[in-house]
Parts: sequence; structure tokens; C-alpha cells
Amino acid sequence: MAATLPAFSAPRCSCSSSSSPRLPLPRFLPSAQPPAAATLLRGRARLQTSAAAAAAAVEVGGVKIAREGNVEMSILRSDVVKEGDPTNNVPDTIYSKFGLQLHRRDNHPLGILKNTIYDYFDKNFSGQFNKFDDLCPLVSVKQNFDDVLVPADHVSRSYNDTYYVDAQTVLRCHTSAHQAELLRDGHTHFLVTGDVYRRDSIDSTHYPCFHQMEGFRVFSPDEWSGSGMDGTAYAAADLKKTLEGLAEHLFGAVEMRWVDTYFPFTNPSFELEIYFQDDWLEVLGCGVTEQEILKNNGRTDNVAWAFGLGLERLAMVLFDIPDIRLFWSNDKRFTSQFSEGKLGVKFKPFSKFPPCYKDMSFWINEEFTENNLCEVVRGIAGDLVEEVKLIDNFTNKKGMTSHCYRIAYRSMERSLTDEEINDMQWNVREEVKNKLKVELR
Ligand code: PHE
Repeated sequence: MAATLPAFSAPRCSCSSSSSPRLPLPRFLPSAQPPAAATLLRGRARLQTSAAAAAAAVEVGGVKIAREGNVEMSILRSDVVKEGDPTNNVPDTIYSKFGLQLHRRDNHPLGILKNTIYDYFDKNFSGQFNKFDDLCPLVSVKQNFDDVLVPADHVSRSYNDTYYVDAQTVLRCHTSAHQAELLRDGHTHFLVTGDVYRRDSIDSTHYPCFHQMEGFRVFSPDEWSGSGMDGTAYAAADLKKTLEGLAEHLFGAVEMRWVDTYFPFTNPSFELEIYFQDDWLEVLGCGVTEQEILKNNGRTDNVAWAFGLGLERLAMVLFDIPDIRLFWSNDKRFTSQFSEGKLGVKFKPFSKFPPCYKDMSFWINEEFTENNLCEVVRGIAGDLVEEVKLIDNFTNKKGMTSHCYRIAYRSMERSLTDEEINDMQWNVREEVKNKLKVELR
């Protein structure tokens, strides 16, 4: 059974059963970590991009975020990437994803999937669900965590797991960050799709920016009063029926099962797994919204359900896409294979280039984390790094711990030369030594 674990800090292999593919998972299990204080309420911002300006500047709530310094733009790159600010851990590689909005491209697998889910809700609940797919990914700590009752000591709040712009502002790590504000704005049925960001390990199914869709539905007492059920049972039953219908809409007649789990914002909480290609695959997290969230946002007498699904994870299965980096590819051999409205066209790899493996060993220190290592490697190799894997780990008699990591370099688009791989590896070693203060062996 696939478990729901913190996306990054959990032991890697426990994130899924030995046979399930490892794909981006929800990360909200109970945990204990030092508190990260901070509450700041920002108004809801909308993110708007024009195709031409996509990478250069994005507009957030009427304010532009620019890559280049520009006096007219009140949020500059320097507001997001603050060199040397200990409360900012957003690297350029992440900043460059801002505004790309893959989920808004109708010919992209993520856009096709989003639209297919929209079709399901339009058909079954005509016009009831409001759709949001351009809410700004820059949110307050309050929106991302406090508003959805994530405990102060929860691991997901740590700098190791989440990208902080400053002590009160993060790149949303889930679309649940928008639940409270939309409720307060009076919405009772909504779908929120967007890019979400998590510091994470590197392999074919993990990427620090991915896409989620949140669904939320509020019920009023007259909806459940005649049912013979209490509000919670009524919402839970409706949630399951709605999501089973969605799974069937996407996958056809599939076997599915519900697994009980934990999220801070729902109770009871469930995961839906579907039987696909000989295995159980977790496709979403959901549950009946905690009463406190409704109460805090003007819906005291109501009940609600919520779900959050990872678009990449579903798209990899539906389109047979073997590596999560491909979603970001501009290579025509990738992009030309998908077209609007065509869900489930199987991706044909244009050729598989050989990977090149490089090992590196070092004595770790107390601050060492795998997320930090991966960030350094990605900062140098970008999307040419396919996997960073711990292959050896021991502690000597003096109590010093050594890790050996195997880095797989592989381009999705071309053969890499020995020279460029050696250069990258040399740079990786230098930066790992200098930035992570570990002792290379
Ligand atoms: N926000 C959760 C995650 O990213 C998913 C979720 C959404 C679960 C809504 C329950 C309800 O892990």
C-alpha cells in the first residue's frame, strides 16, 4: 500500500510499496519539528502571464515579478531570491519556473489532464464549481500552513522541505493554501490548479516544482438533513462517490480502494488508490474538512469535503511519460506528441540516451540533508541530473558518518559528452564541499 509521507524527509524507500512507482506524494503526516513562527496575511493575488513574457515577468495581483531589475516592477527578482538572506532558500532554478504555468497549456499533458477533470465536473455538476488556475504561488506562511491547521512543529514547515522567500512568505507547497481565502470570498464549490514547490530528492518521479489540483465543496444543513446521516458521514459519502466517478472518467473501469490516512486539515482523511498496471497506485489525498477551517472562514454551520491530486503523477500513468523532467521539455519531439482534448495518447520515447554515473563520498556533518545536496546538484546540472541516490552509508569507530551518493546524469534530448559530465561533476564536488561543508573522501 502506498503511504502518505513527508515528500522529502521520510526515508526514501518507505514512500511507496516496493513495487509501486515512486511518484510525488502528499506530505502531511503528523510530525514533530521545531516551530517556525510567523503569520502574515496577504491578499489573494492573481498570477497573469502573457506567452511572450512568460519567463521574463509575471504579474501577481497587479504587481509584476520580474527577472530583470526594472523600476516599474515592485516585486523584483531580488524580493524572491535574496542572496545571503538566511530566511530565503529559493534558488534561481526554481525562480525560473515562475509563470510558466504548464497546467494552462491546452496542448500540454498537464493542461489536457486539467481540462479532462474540468469536463467531469462540468458534466456532473454543471456550472457549480468555480475554477481557479492562476492564483499566485507566492503565499504567506499563514495561508500555506496556519489556515489549514498544519501544526507549528510540523516537518513540512522546515526550511529543508519548503521554499521560503522570507520568514513569512513561501512558495506554496500545496494548493490547499488557497482554501481559506476562497471560502472567505464566499465560494462553496471550487477547483484550484497550480504549480506547487517542495524541496525534494531527485529521481524520475520527483521534481521540486509540480502541479496539483484542489477540489472543495461546501454543504449546508438542508442538504444532509433528510439523508439520515450526520453532516460528516454525508460529506464523506459524497466525496467518495464524486472521486470514484472522477477516477473512472480518467482511467475507465478500474479497480479502486480507499485507504484511511491523516492530514491536518481533514478528518476523516482518505487516499484513493487505483489498480493500474499490476499495482496499487495512490492518486489523491482527501477528506472531510476540519470544522475549525469552516468556522474560521464564515461557514460555521456547514460541512465540506476537499481533495488534492498531483497532476504529474496521474499524467505519467495516463500518457506513459517515464521521467518527470519531460514535462518541462520544449523539445518538439516531446511537445508535438500531445494535443488538446486527447487524454491518454501514449508517449513514444524519441530515443533513450545512455546515463552516466558518477559516485562521490564524503563525511557528513550534523546539518547535512539530502534535500540540500540535491539542490546543489540541480543548481549545477539542472535537468541533466536524473537521479541522486544514496548507495553507501556507514559510521566509523570515531562516530563519523560517511555517505556515498551515485549521481546519474542523462539528457532527455541528446548524448552528453564525457567532457561536460566531468566538468559538471568537478563543479558539483567543489560546491558540495564549499556549500555543505562536508569533507570529501
Ligand atoms: N494538500 C494535501 C497534500 O498536498 C492533499 C489534500 C488536499 C489532502 C485536500 C486532503 C484534502 O498533500
